[in-house]
Amino acid sequence: MARNKIALIGSGMIGGTLAHVAAREELGDVILFDIAEGLPQGKGLDIAESTPVYGASVNLKGVNDYAGIAGADVCIVTAGVPRKPGMSRDDLLGINLKVMKAVGEGIKAHAPNAFVICITNPLDAMVWALQKFSGLPTEKVVGMAGVLDSSRFAYFLSEKTGVSVADIHAWTLGGHGDDMVPMVRHSTVGGLPLTQLVAQGWMSQAELDAIVERTRKGGGEIVNLLKTGSAYYAPAESAIAMAKSYLADQKRVLPVASYCSGQYGLKDMYVGVPTLIGAGGAEKIVEFDFNADEKAMFDKSVASVNGLIEACKGIDPSLA
Ligand code: APR
Repeated sequence: MARNKIALIGSGMIGGTLAHVAAREELGDVILFDIAEGLPQGKGLDIAESTPVYGASVNLKGVNDYAGIAGADVCIVTAGVPRKPGMSRDDLLGINLKVMKAVGEGIKAHAPNAFVICITNPLDAMVWALQKFSGLPTEKVVGMAGVLDSSRFAYFLSEKTGVSVADIHAWTLGGHGDDMVPMVRHSTVGGLPLTQLVAQGWMSQAELDAIVERTRKGGGEIVNLLKTGSAYYAPAESAIAMAKSYLADQKRVLPVASYCSGQYGLKDMYVGVPTLIGAGGAEKIVEFDFNADEKAMFDKSVASVNGLIEACKGIDPSLA
C-alpha cells in the first residue's frame, strides 16, 4: 500500500512541529507548503536529515505551489498569523479570513479528497469559512481546538491531584475562546467525575474553579510567556491525534470543531463537540446532556462563534 501523504498548509511554528511529529511517527510522506520562500524547503530538509537517526522511512518536501499538495490524504492548515500579547484570537479574523480563501481554493483544486484539519484562529469561524471556500463535504473539514483545550485541562488536573495524565479524561466543548465550556460533570480523574473529586476532598471548589479558569485562558498564558507568538507543541500534537484517528480509522471520540446540522440545536455552524473520527471523517457527533448551567455556558460560547461568523459574512459577502 502506498504511503499516506500529509500536506501541511503553513510551515511556521505549528507547521514545522507537525512535520517533525508526523515524520517521527511515520504517519506518511510530508509536504510542507507556505507562501514564504525557503521556509518549507528548509524545514522539510532539516527534518528529512533527521530521519536516518531514528530510522523513519518517510519523505519530506517543501513547496510554494499548491500543485505540491496534490493527492494529499490529510491537510492540516495553520496558514495565517498567530496572536501577540494583548491580542484576542478574534483580532486575527480579517487577515486570516483572506488566507482561508486562498487555502480553501488551493485544497479544492488539488486535494479535494483530503481530510482537512484547520488550526488557524479564530478557529470556529475559520474552519466554517474554510469549508465554504473549499466546497469539501462538511464531514471532511474539521477544526482542532477541543483536543488542545481538553489536554490543557487534563494537565492542570494532573498537576493538582498527582494522578497520571493517562488516567484523566477531560472535556471542553464550545468555541475556542475564553468562554469555552470545560465540562466539569463529564470529566474524570481516575474514573471519578470532578464534582465527586471535590466532594471527596481531593481539591476545593475554589481550586477546581481556578483550574477551569486557567484552562479557558490557557492559550493567552502561553502567548504572554512567549511574547512573539502562540503555542505550537500542544496544538501540533492535538492535530496529529485527530489525523491518526482518521488515517487508521481508530474511531476515537474527541472534542472537535465539527459542522453541526441540527445536533445540539445548531444549524450551519462549527463549534467544539465530541466527535467520532474515523475513515469517513467526522462520522458522528456525540450529544452530551447539559444541565441548565452548562447549557447557559454553551449558548454563550455559541453566540460568540455566531458573532464571528456574521463578521466573516460582512467582510466577504460570498459567504453570506
Ligand atoms: N498561505 C500559506 N501560508 C501562509 C499564508 C498563506 N496565504 N499566509 C501566511 N502563511 C504562513 C506564514 O508564512 C507562516 O509561515 O503561515 C505560517 C504561520 O506560522 P506562524 O506565524 O509561525 O504561526 P503558528 O504559531 O504556526 O500559528 C498558526 O494557528 O494556532 C493558530 O493562532 C494561530 O492562526 C495561527 C495559526
